[in-house]
Amino acid sequence: MRIAFTVNGVPREVDAPPLRRLLDILRDDLGLTGTKEGCGEGECGACSVLLDGALVQSCLVPAVQLSGCRIITIESLGSQTAPDPVQQGFLDEGAVQCGFCIPGMVLATHALLARNPKPNEEAIRAGLSGNICRCTGYERIVRAVQRAAESALPSTPIAKAVAATTARPQAAQGSVVHSPTTLEEALIVLRTSATGGAADGTGDRAADGAAETLSGLTILAGGTDLMLPGAQASPATGSVLDLSRVAGLAGVCIHKDIIELGSSTTVATLADNPDVDRYLPALATAARLFGAPAIRNRATLGGNLAGASPAADLPPALLALDAIVVLASASGRRDTPLDVYFTGYRQTVRRLDELIIAVRVTLPAPDTRQAFFKAGTRRAQSIARASVAGAARVDASGTLRSVRLAAGSVAPMPILLRETMRLLEGRVLDAKLIEEADRLAAAEITPIEDVRSNVAYRRFVTGRLVARFLREYCRP
Ligand SMILES: Cc1cc2nc3c(=O)[nH]c(=O)nc-3n(C[C@H](O)[C@H](O)[C@H](O)COP(=O)(O)OP(=O)(O)OC[C@H]3O[C@@H](n4cnc5c(N)ncnc54)[C@H](O)[C@@H]3O)c2cc1C
Ligand code: FES
Ligand code: FES
Repeated sequence: MRIAFTVNGVPREVDAPPLRRLLDILRDDLGLTGTKEGCGEGECGACSVLLDGALVQSCLVPAVQLSGCRIITIESLGSQTAPDPVQQGFLDEGAVQCGFCIPGMVLATHALLARNPKPNEEAIRAGLSGNICRCTGYERIVRAVQRAAESALPSTPIAKAVAATTARPQAAQGSVVHSPTTLEEALIVLRTSATGGAADGTGDRAADGAAETLSGLTILAGGTDLMLPGAQASPATGSVLDLSRVAGLAGVCIHKDIIELGSSTTVATLADNPDVDRYLPALATAARLFGAPAIRNRATLGGNLAGASPAADLPPALLALDAIVVLASASGRRDTPLDVYFTGYRQTVRRLDELIIAVRVTLPAPDTRQAFFKAGTRRAQSIARASVAGAARVDASGTLRSVRLAAGSVAPMPILLRETMRLLEGRVLDAKLIEEADRLAAAEITPIEDVRSNVAYRRFVTGRLVARFLREYCRP
C-alpha cells in the first residue's frame, strides 16, 4: 500500500505491506539509521520515535497506521557539532557510551519534558522506564535529563496531527487493508470476513486472543501484541482491519451513573484521565503500572481484553469493578459481564463477527475502597507474576459490603476470588479474618509454574495482596 506521512517535517511516501514495521521503513526504506533495533519486541526502547507527538516503539508500529502522521526521529534534533539541549545534557553528564540506546533515550526525554518540563527524579525514571541502558548507569542519565530540563528546550515539532483517511479497502502486495472510519463499516468488513459459520452472527467464537487472524483477517488496534514477532498468522497475504481510525471508539465518557470506556482508548488515557482516576482508581493504578510510556501510548483497552491473557493487567481491575464488555456485530450489540466473558486460556465468549466496542462500569458508590496491586520482576515492562484488585464498601458498623476481589496470572484466565469474597461479605474486619482471607485466596487459585514464577510463590503473593487490600484499604 502507498503511505504518505512526514518524517522530521519532510513529506515522504513509501510502498509497504500493511504490517511492515515503522522501524524498517525508517532504517531500510528511508535510510534513517539513527533509530536502532535492539530487542524488536517493544522492551528496550532503542527504536523510540515520536509519532504525532507521542513516544512509541517503532518496532511495534505498523505501516498501515502511518498515513497522515508526523514522525520525529533523532535525525531532526541537533547535529554532532550543534547538539540540542537534551543531547548536550547527555554529553555533559557522560551519559553516553554506546550510542545504541541513547537516540531512544533522547527522544523519550523530549516526550517527557513536553509533558512535564520540570520532572522530579521519580518522574524522570518513570518517563524513561521503557528505555534500557546496560552500561552507563541510570544515575548519569537521570542527571542528564535534569540538566536538560534546566536549559531552555527549543520548540520541537511534535504537534499532534492525524489526517483522516478513506475507508475504502486498499490493495497491498497480496493483502487487503480496511481502514474504516465508522463502526458500521468495520462491522460489515468483519461480517464479510467471518465466513465458516460466523457470518450470520451465530458462528464460532474467536479462538485465540493472541492471534486473531481467523478467516485471514487481522483485527488491529494498537499492535503491541500483534506486532510482536510471530504473533500474526499470515501477515503477508491476509487482510487487515485497522480500528485506529474508527470514530467514536476511543475515549471516556460518563452518562448518568455509567462510565463508558471506548475499546480504542489507550492505556495512557486510562492512566491520565481524571474521571478514571476519580471513579475507578483501581483501573487507573493498573494502567499506570502497565508496560512503560511508549507501550501505554499505543496499547488499547480492547486489545487487552481481546488478547485475554491470564497475566493482563486491566481485567482484574475491571472484574473487581463488575465491568460489562460491550460486543457489537453487524446484527446487533450485546452486553456481557466481564466475569463470564473469559471462558478459558485466551478464550472468550466473543464471536468472530464481533468487535469489543466499549467497557461499561456503573459508577461505584463514593465510599467504595479500591486498589490494584501487581507483583512483577521489575517496575516497568514487567508481566505480572500475580496481581490482585479489590473493591469493597465498609458501612458505619465496620461491616464489609459488596466485596469484589479479582486476580491475574494465577489461573488460565483472569478470575474473581469468589470463595474469598463470600468469606468476607457481611463480616467485620479483624486480624483473624484477614488471615483467613489470605489463606483462602491462596488456596482457591489454580496457578501454574512458568518462567516467571512458581506455584508456591503465586499462592503466597496472592494471599498477601488480598490481606494488604483488607488491611490498608478496608479498615472502618
Ligand atoms: C513491551 C510490552 C509490555 C507490555 N506490558 C503489558 C503490561 O504491563 N500489562 C498488560 O496487561 N499487557 C502488557 N503488554 C501486552 C499488550 O500491550 C496489551 O495486551 C495491549 O493492551 C494490547 O492492546 P493493543 O491495542 O496493542 O492490541 P493489538 O496488538 O492491536 O491486538 C491484540 C489482540 O486483540 C485483537 N483486538 C484488538 N482490538 C480488538 C477489538 N476492539 N475487538 C476485538 N478484537 C480486538 C487483535 O485482533 C489481537 O488479537 C505489553 C506488551 C509489550 C510488547
Ligand atoms: S527494538 Fe527494542 S523496543 Fe523496539
Ligand atoms: S549507553 Fe547504550 S547501553 Fe548504555
